[in-house]
Amino acid sequence: MTSSEKDSPPSTDSHANAARCFALVPCAGSGSRAGTVKPKQYELIAGQSMVMHTLAALQSVTRLYKTVVVVSPTDTHAWPESSVQRLQCGGATRAESVFNGLSALLAEGAHNPEGVQAHDWILVHDAARCLITELEINRLIDACMGDDVGGLLALPLPDTLKAATNGRVSATLPRQDKWLAQTPQMFRAGALHAALQAQAADHFEGITDEASAMEMAGFAPKLVVGSPHNFKVTYPPDFALAEDLLGSRK
Ligand code: CTP
Ligand code: MG
Repeated sequence: MTSSEKDSPPSTDSHANAARCFALVPCAGSGSRAGTVKPKQYELIAGQSMVMHTLAALQSVTRLYKTVVVVSPTDTHAWPESSVQRLQCGGATRAESVFNGLSALLAEGAHNPEGVQAHDWILVHDAARCLITELEINRLIDACMGDDVGGLLALPLPDTLKAATNGRVSATLPRQDKWLAQTPQMFRAGALHAALQAQAADHFEGITDEASAMEMAGFAPKLVVGSPHNFKVTYPPDFALAEDLLGSRK
């Protein structure tokens, strides 16, 4: 019995024991805020492309059955031959990339029992969060495996939160109930697909992560404490910070 099974409440889902964990990595963005020539996920950090660091962390988690990457249909990156399965079905937004990737995985699973089934867990993780660790991924899996909904890594807001108008403070907002959402975000494949599908007609407006789609569908995802190191490489200074942190782990 694993620690997660031991700590989990009895599940009402008859498939619970058979549910596997898959990782889906949205990697189809252009990285417009990063100011890099190529998409930021392919920039070299500490000797290898950002996404390869991300994949190495995911592949170190033995409970992840398989990892799949969603890239843009126009992706020209030269991937190492032996790396993970790639789906060239990225969309115009992150949510669309995840929805397209998940649709493809579930369609494959409909005629291949090895493929993703509706009751399997999907851990969606940003290619641009290359500092995620095995420890944090396992913490999320342990916390969500026995949960009816699933959840996400997140951080309680550490700083005072200001609202602004024209670059000046308009209000100080209560921060006690505020969290910063990270990834991975872990939900049942079928439930997440349905939640995203319900937002497709609105072009996934306001759906900036998987949890927001699940919330729109009426669920309350579980918040699992992540790490400040698991930031999303977004702006130019983030690359040096990521390089330092990855370098210090070697
Ligand atoms: N992503 C994606 N498809 C998109 C947009 C984003 O798969 N249409 C992916 C990115 O590659 C990244 C993750 O979603 O791994 C988080 O998105 P973000 O950090 O916003 O990346 P970009 O959208 O590429 O960057 P920017 O918003 O600065 O353009
Ligand atoms: Mg973006």
